[in-house]
Amino acid sequence: MPDAYVDDTASHPDYDSPDYRSTALRHPHNKLHLLPQRLTEVTGPLFGHDRVQPGEEDMTQWHGGEAVGQRIIVHGRVLDSGGRPVPDTLLEVWQANAAGRYRHVSDQWPAPLDPHFAGLGRCATDSDGYYRFTTIKPGAYPWKNHHNAWRPAHIHFSLFGRAFPQRLVTQMYFPDDPLFFQDPIYNSVPEHARERMVSGYDHTSTQDHWALGFRWDIVLRGRAQTPFESEPDDD
Ligand SMILES: [Fe+2]
Repeated sequence: MPDAYVDDTASHPDYDSPDYRSTALRHPHNKLHLLPQRLTEVTGPLFGHDRVQPGEEDMTQWHGGEAVGQRIIVHGRVLDSGGRPVPDTLLEVWQANAAGRYRHVSDQWPAPLDPHFAGLGRCATDSDGYYRFTTIKPGAYPWKNHHNAWRPAHIHFSLFGRAFPQRLVTQMYFPDDPLFFQDPIYNSVPEHARERMVSGYDHTSTQDHWALGFRWDIVLRGRAQTPFESEPDDD
């Protein structure tokens, strides 16, 4: 079986995770029907460096000023299931500000907005699958899942992989967060796979008098097949 179709299902959370209460309303009740990836899906759309503007990877500057908080560098490589780098793939990230608040109309808890922090960033991996963002360490924030529920600090990531059907949406956490124990999203992932979502403090990328470095490598589900190596396609 080509590895584009291999999925490590034992490492993914259940669609219905009772402790994560809103999954009760949105998990599928019927068995998923997997569609084959045909020529149309694996050849486009593709995203490259030309669609990302310079500066989109630096989230610390917005509206003519500098965001408040602990400046951090988040970097790593995007790899396929065989450990091979995934070049020219688009990464989109979004996060709360240093006080734990999103710039979004539905986030109204009493933490301040930062006029110089939008919480959105984009970049594309280079030829070696490498990506890098400069941002502010997000704060924890409360939510209504259960009494006194707080999300550990995290950054949301979306990756497009080599082709659109490989899109992966996940969250990156920070090491040794004291809020892990009570977070049903983090804990909905099988225990053996949770550490794959946690970045590591990286002193080699920490910059003196500037920013702390965190390293996080991301492994996509599979490697896109070159169409002529896959089964006959009638598209
Ligand atoms: Fe979040």
